[in-house]
Amino acid sequence: MTPRRSRGRRLVLVAVAALALVLAACSGVKNNGQNSLEPKGPQSQKIYDLFVPILIIAIVVGILVVSATVIIAIKFRYKKGKNENPKQVHGNTRLEIGWTVLPALLLAIIAVPTVATIFDLAQNPGPQALQVNVEGKQWWWQFSYPDAKVVTADEMIIPTGRDVYLHLRACDGTSETPTTCNVIHSFWVPELAGKKDVVPGQANTLTINADKPGTYLGQCAEYCGLSHANMRFRVIAKSPADFQEWLSQQQQGPVNQLTEANGDPAGPTQKLIVNTFQCTNCHVFDDSSKAAYGPNLTHLASRTTFASGSYPLTRDNLVKWVRNAPSMIPMSSQDCRLPPGDGICVGMPSFIENTPPGQQSMTQQQAEDIADFLLEQK
Ligand code: CUA
Repeated sequence: MTPRRSRGRRLVLVAVAALALVLAACSGVKNNGQNSLEPKGPQSQKIYDLFVPILIIAIVVGILVVSATVIIAIKFRYKKGKNENPKQVHGNTRLEIGWTVLPALLLAIIAVPTVATIFDLAQNPGPQALQVNVEGKQWWWQFSYPDAKVVTADEMIIPTGRDVYLHLRACDGTSETPTTCNVIHSFWVPELAGKKDVVPGQANTLTINADKPGTYLGQCAEYCGLSHANMRFRVIAKSPADFQEWLSQQQQGPVNQLTEANGDPAGPTQKLIVNTFQCTNCHVFDDSSKAAYGPNLTHLASRTTFASGSYPLTRDNLVKWVRNAPSMIPMSSQDCRLPPGDGICVGMPSFIENTPPGQQSMTQQQAEDIADFLLEQK
């Protein structure tokens, strides 16, 4: 075998190995719950149906261009003993018109289904759709159902087979508690729909729909600060009957009352929540119709995750979170217990670190009591 041939064979081997590696990586992410190439609803299916033919066209064009480049490079390469300059030409009108018109024509053809799909997906699905207000906060998602007057967080429950019309906002005064959030988020559930930015001062809309019951993973897809990567959420699709059951359960009052009729805390744990640690500054514990600065916790125990989907809702996780949330996800919350905060104060404060003068640190027992109280709030 000549040296040149063996080098060629080695190159082919490397290329095959690289391709195998890429394909293996692809098969690994197939079922990661965030694969836009595994559409699970009509909107994502439409995007997929547009993507595949365009991908095929792109692959054909790519193969043609790369092969032409390689063939020309090999055919006209320097040859020993033939040391002459190639013939100098100045433009070839026919060729230049050809390689201008052909791509323009191709793009024009691709534009037809692309523009049609964009308009199709942007359509208001009409009054039969379920309306959900989505608020992107730092760093969690609030979902409210205006018709049912239900506010929840981190997990959006939807009925299968029905369009859900999302009104996407960043928290800039559209909620009941005006705040000054001013960052852009992006709402993305890859298996159900395309990405849509959530912009302060602008109400964007998006339609999603899930064919089958299941959990679809979502993620904030626009850098929005410290915990951007932890700003996850879940869309949980239930059968229409199960969805109705969930909705009416959410409309009920809390399992444990927070306060008596006269406004006093209804028990020792409630006293910790209302007075000692003033969790009620940011959270609502006893009315699932109210939006708040932090997640509404009236029915926290009906959720499977918390902290924007970063942690499964277990007692251990919740105790640790209640006591020292910034140790679990990065937040800018060191001054949050000093009202009114001058500096940036985003996220749960730590109740064992940076405790302001005159305020209490939280004991393990107190954190356990609060967590147990919350875990009863189904
Ligand atoms: Cu919100 Cu990134």
